[in-house]
Amino acid sequence: MTGRTWHHSNARLHQLSWKRYLWDEMSESVLCEPSSDPQWQQYYDLRWRELRAPWGQPRGSEKDDLEAASQHLMIVENDDVVAVGRLHFNTPFEAQVRFMAVAASARGRGLGQRILRELERRARSAGAHSIVLNARENVQGFYEKEGFSVVGPAPLLFGAVPHVRMRKVLR
Ligand SMILES: CC(C)(COP(=O)(O)OP(=O)(O)OC[C@H]1O[C@@H](n2cnc3c(N)ncnc32)[C@H](O)[C@@H]1OP(=O)(O)O)[C@@H](O)C(=O)NCCC(=O)NCCS
Repeated sequence: MTGRTWHHSNARLHQLSWKRYLWDEMSESVLCEPSSDPQWQQYYDLRWRELRAPWGQPRGSEKDDLEAASQHLMIVENDDVVAVGRLHFNTPFEAQVRFMAVAASARGRGLGQRILRELERRARSAGAHSIVLNARENVQGFYEKEGFSVVGPAPLLFGAVPHVRMRKVLR
């Protein structure tokens, strides 16, 4: 690595950690499961706003048939839901992550990573041998940082959003 590249990557690291540190100091950031009606409303609203509304999809399209059988996680800051993610099992040994979303204004502070790591912890403790997910191509790198690898193509969402199938072996 050249001196210049080294300087730039360290400057970015420094900037990022300060951003995270200052935010943690200024606000409470709570990782939890939705429990009250208003929390469920905010939870699904964030999914819809980040994952469906930009493609003109109606309210309700942010849910599937597995909601009741899934584990749901969110991060709340100052009474606002700013990050969400969900885990379900396809088989006793294969878990799947779906509906990962962080509010646009809260990205880049490690919230997505926090949700994904807790979903993985729960998958492991429930006996999963692997986790799969369909990742939007533009966020593939986010999942790669957490140890997921591309294993094949995944369906094109709304005829417009390319996805890849990713997998992480846990044991
Ligand atoms: C993808 C998403 C959940 C990431 O959440 P986030 O809170 O912004 O990400 P984090 O801050 O936790 O990032 C963790 C790491 O992944 C990296 N990362 C984040 N987004 C990335 C991307 N699109 N491509 C490559 N790396 C990415 C970060 O730089 C960070 O790396 P570092 O630890 O070396 O600093 C968020 O950008 C999002 O909601 N996007 C829109 C909705 C979406 O696409 N959801 C996923 C559907 S499959």
